Amino acid sequence: MPNTRIKCAKALQTVLEDKVFFAALKNDFTAQELPLANMLILSALRYWVALNKILQTFLQKKIPHKHRAAQYLLLLAIAELLLMETASYAVINETVANVRQVSDKFLSGLANAVLRKIIADKTMWQKKMAELNILPHSFTEILAGYTPEQQAKIAAAVVQIPPLDLTVRNDAKLWAEKLNAEILPNATLRLHHTVKVKQLAGYDEGAWWVQDVAAALPVLALGDVNGLKIADLCAAPGGKTAQLAAAGAKVTAVDISAMRLEKLQQNMQRLGFDNVSVFAGDALDFLHNTTEQFDVLLLDAPCSATGTFRRHPEVLHIKNNADVTEQRELQEKLLHASAEKLKVGGILLYSVCSISRIEGEGQIQKFLKVQPNFSLIPIKTEDISRNGQWAENIITSEGYIRTLPYMYFAKGGMDSFFIAKMQRII
Ligand SMILES: C[S@@+](CC[C@H](N)C(=O)[O-])C[C@H]1O[C@@H](n2cnc3c(N)ncnc32)[C@H](O)[C@@H]1O
Repeated sequence: MPNTRIKCAKALQTVLEDKVFFAALKNDFTAQELPLANMLILSALRYWVALNKILQTFLQKKIPHKHRAAQYLLLLAIAELLLMETASYAVINETVANVRQVSDKFLSGLANAVLRKIIADKTMWQKKMAELNILPHSFTEILAGYTPEQQAKIAAAVVQIPPLDLTVRNDAKLWAEKLNAEILPNATLRLHHTVKVKQLAGYDEGAWWVQDVAAALPVLALGDVNGLKIADLCAAPGGKTAQLAAAGAKVTAVDISAMRLEKLQQNMQRLGFDNVSVFAGDALDFLHNTTEQFDVLLLDAPCSATGTFRRHPEVLHIKNNADVTEQRELQEKLLHASAEKLKVGGILLYSVCSISRIEGEGQIQKFLKVQPNFSLIPIKTEDISRNGQWAENIITSEGYIRTLPYMYFAKGGMDSFFIAKMQRII
């Protein structure tokens, strides 16, 4: 049985080389291993550029490709020494033995020397780590259209560990007290302490669900949806479906992934919603074949997910402009197919958890140019406020919502979402 740190190195290698989300690999770890694996891998991904630069300063030549398992172990060990509280002797001893196991004696000697030098000057290396941690070049390309000042603030947000956000079904004040949580302006509950979600009060009775504050905004932007016929076109795992169901809409949840839809159904069951029906398949087929006209179409479209780097720091390293282009094309098809199935007066709500302006602002500007039947409905602060004022302006001059990871930074930040509300006028 490989030990946890070897498993972490392997998982990190898979994430970066096969371009998959770490969340997809969590089943490889036991419940006991998961807290360390989570902390270690996500921390390493947040500081990946700096960690590689630090390791390079100790190497006369590159570690050969065939020994990269050892290199991943070393990078994880540097992260653990500089970012976590584990006793340094434990990290060094285990890494040296692990490197020996996956590689050879020469590299285990090198690991020993490098890690001891780092720990001998820990404070200096911790400072350097913060200074050296810039965004990967491929990610800066995705940030085209943001000012240098915005890009610097986005880069600084990369290392923030996000709090846990919950959307409550009702009575946010009561649940805030029970859970010792802060209430954000849209009534999202924010927990700053580390918790096990399934052990929190209210989980079993379905009083709330996990959802980043920014992800809760698209449905709020719709206003009152009670009794409306709504198709949630890319619905799984169902955060927004749950909000719609809680607000009394008659929802059809559509998703192409059977596995993710199963998760959605489990979530609806836990939350006790029986006003949700499910269509498993491509939303393009659903839209093409349905004879129904909807009051609202919610298109929380598949996207590069680059706005979620606080929770999924791997996107910084595995996503590039080619992903943005690919998703932009699919989003465009979904938008135009949606346009056909709305009642006159109906609302098309488009959202993406992407920081790219191509998938957000650019996509909608283009849609509105070629779809004269639709007009933009500017989103108002009142639509998304339930508990006091937003301290920061998250609504653009056009009336879109554009959240960025540095907004509400002192309070824990938020994912980057783009949201546009459009109405079919003829
Ligand atoms: C951003 S996630 C949706 C998150 C969800 N709305 C929520 O709030 O929990 C995008 C979803 O789109 C689905 N998807 C991707 N391509 C699709 C397609 N052509 N038709 C339907 N669903 C699709 C994915 O399986 C994924 O679940």
